Amino acid sequence: MKAKILIINGPNLNMLKFRDNNIYGSIDLKQINKKIKKNFKNIKFIFFQSNSEEKIINKIQKSKKIIGIVINPAAYTHTSVAIRDALEIKNVIKVEVHLSDINNREEFRKINYIKDVVDKSIFGKKILGYFEAIQYIVEKKLKK
Ligand code: DQA
Repeated sequence: MKAKILIINGPNLNMLKFRDNNIYGSIDLKQINKKIKKNFKNIKFIFFQSNSEEKIINKIQKSKKIIGIVINPAAYTHTSVAIRDALEIKNVIKVEVHLSDINNREEFRKINYIKDVVDKSIFGKKILGYFEAIQYIVEKKLKK
């Protein structure tokens, strides 16, 4: 059976087409997910995007038999103790991904509630950040 990884994208990442290409890259979320599937044929992915904090938390809580979570919480990175707590409870390998480098933008984006409860944080690598996150989960899982 294929290993399963949950990929969560938060608010406004469904609108990448209309966001600043210089910051986020020129590829939209559907294309990102397509490329992820193409690059990791041995993994089963659950792709989930939501603009709702509640739905993201429910997804984290209810997902079963996954080896890891890749999450781009988007703006909730900077505000959500609730998503942080949900991730903390979940005992799987967790990686936080941001398309942009949140540490080199506005001051408010440096506030990050997620970083302490994930195994790895990846910033500013655009789509490559997702690939790196998946690779990390797979390698870490093999070592266990
Ligand atoms: C983001 C960075 C966040 O600050 C922002 O609110 C986003 C996307 C990123 O992928 O670079 O929506 O998480």
